[in-house]
Amino acid sequence: MSVLFYLCDGRARARASLAEDFEIQCWRPAFDGFPPRRWRSIPNLCWWAFGKLRIFANRSFGAIRIERHGQVLHRLIVTPAWYRFPFMSPDDLQIGALWTSREARRQQLAASAIGEAHRRFGSERSRFWYLTDGDNVASGALARACGYRLVAVGRRTRPLGISLLGRFVVDRWVQRELTRTQAIDPDCDEESDAGRTLSVSH
Ligand SMILES: CC(C)(COP(=O)(O)OP(=O)(O)OC[C@H]1O[C@@H](n2cnc3c(N)ncnc32)[C@H](O)[C@@H]1OP(=O)(O)O)[C@@H](O)C(=O)NCCC(=O)NCCS
Repeated sequence: MSVLFYLCDGRARARASLAEDFEIQCWRPAFDGFPPRRWRSIPNLCWWAFGKLRIFANRSFGAIRIERHGQVLHRLIVTPAWYRFPFMSPDDLQIGALWTSREARRQQLAASAIGEAHRRFGSERSRFWYLTDGDNVASGALARACGYRLVAVGRRTRPLGISLLGRFVVDRWVQRELTRTQAIDPDCDEESDAGRTLSVSH
């Protein structure tokens, strides 16, 4: 399965407006500390530990969610560069793990949460990455609707068959000039032979 790599300027402000009864919440461990009870999940405990262990390249990890009447209808995370994403620069961020409840889809929740992530976490120096499987039509359309541009095609690696140890590597740059970066792993942007046969129509 190919992975599409989208990129957006950190200053971009996605435009989306939410109905009044939706509430946007954010947990940012660098400021808020240990996950409060309502944010306490196994993934969030792991992310908090990652921050403490300085696994991330910067302190901008955050989680955003949108609720209505106490029910979580959308969530996403903002992650700095780390081992799994060697093509990212130390100031870069990535939007990931997006999910909108089925009954709340196409109501601009994801677009609003991405806009909120850009507003809260973006800076002059940062850029936002967005990775999605090549066959996830909704996810790719969302990225493009929020101002992201397809810059590369790649894949997940599975060393020793273990996906948890895997990294996301670029096989083919589509718009290399947009991505000149001080990647945390300078070897990560070597094109592989496999990548040269890939094609995309975005
Ligand atoms: C992808 C996902 C998060 C989108 O959430 P959402 O809240 O429905 O998205 P939004 O309403 O904010 O969509 C904003 C824009 O993105 C595009 N878009 C979103 N879903 C789309 C779809 N199914 N088909 C085509 N375009 C879509 C549209 O341009 C849309 O604007 P419009 O409705 O005015 O046309 C949601 O479909 C989901 O949770 N999917 C399952 C999990 C997943 O695949 N996550 C992504 C992992 S990278």
